[in-house]
Amino acid sequence: MAKTIDFNDRMLSLGLARVSEAAAQASAALIGRGDEKAADLAAAGAMREQLNMLDIRGVVVIGEGERDEAPILCIGEEVGTGSGPEVDIALDPLEGATLTAKDMPNALSVIAMAPRGTLLHAPDVYMEKLAIGPGYPEGLVSLEMSPTERVAALAKAKGVRPCDVTVCVLERPRHEEMIAELRATGAAIRLITDGDVAGVIHCAEAAVTGIDIYMGSGGAPEGVLAASALKCMGGQIWGRLIFRNDAERARAKQAGLRDLNRVYARDDLVTSDVIFAATGVTTGSIVQGVKREPGFLTTETILMRSKTGSVRRMIYRNPIR
Ligand code: FBP
Repeated sequence: MAKTIDFNDRMLSLGLARVSEAAAQASAALIGRGDEKAADLAAAGAMREQLNMLDIRGVVVIGEGERDEAPILCIGEEVGTGSGPEVDIALDPLEGATLTAKDMPNALSVIAMAPRGTLLHAPDVYMEKLAIGPGYPEGLVSLEMSPTERVAALAKAKGVRPCDVTVCVLERPRHEEMIAELRATGAAIRLITDGDVAGVIHCAEAAVTGIDIYMGSGGAPEGVLAASALKCMGGQIWGRLIFRNDAERARAKQAGLRDLNRVYARDDLVTSDVIFAATGVTTGSIVQGVKREPGFLTTETILMRSKTGSVRRMIYRNPIR
């Protein structure tokens, strides 16, 4: 059951938009330059600078990596001015660093904020994910169902044939079997090369994006970010952590997780109200990418609050100094 904890989300949300805008704008000069690390570093530096201007006592729970591997915005880093509400932060300054380096669609700067202790401390392991948009009965599909059963259930609920359903899947060798099974149902598959936060968000605006359902494994941290977005837009997501070895299991235990086989529903990943901002780096189905004109950078941001279900799209034009 989702908790309601007041954390001044109304005022903070505008600050959050500034944070993702700054990260996206900082990576603009590195779009299509083949250097994902540089793009990620530029975005992270700008994100941290803006985040530290917010009147919050923030802790990064989903960040650039563990303390020993990420120079900035690592897990556990305290951010904000140190006065204001205690909050958890989940962020990815550049979700789709490779997409940015190759100038491919749907790279985003993303950040979510929620009251302290309400975002899952997901370790950096894979997560099996399944997501659908709003308007469907609770538990219409599940991780226990086969891909075929999920497509059939969704098609029935939507009142269409399986061949009228579109599934979004990360193109990876580990998904080959699932893709073959999905093809046999007749469903269309939108293969993406990276960026499953955007992949999941696509389900929430199926009429615009054409995507009905997301399935497959990707980063667990990205699962918390995607759940934050769906909590604001409506829609359901389930996730189960995947462990490839004991070191990964140990990482989960260190993050405080006890039941390593648990299926997390959306409101287990994000247990309270949340605010979420995503700014386009490269143009995609949800937001436009950074536009570079002589003297200006322009970004589009989607800014959302779960408490009200409000979704804002904000265009920001910033002179280049
Ligand atoms: P980053 O660009 O943030 O590193 O992540 C890109 C991404 O595609 C995520 O969206 C996804 O969850 C994950 O990588 C998938 O991991 P892998 O490339 O190992 O399959």
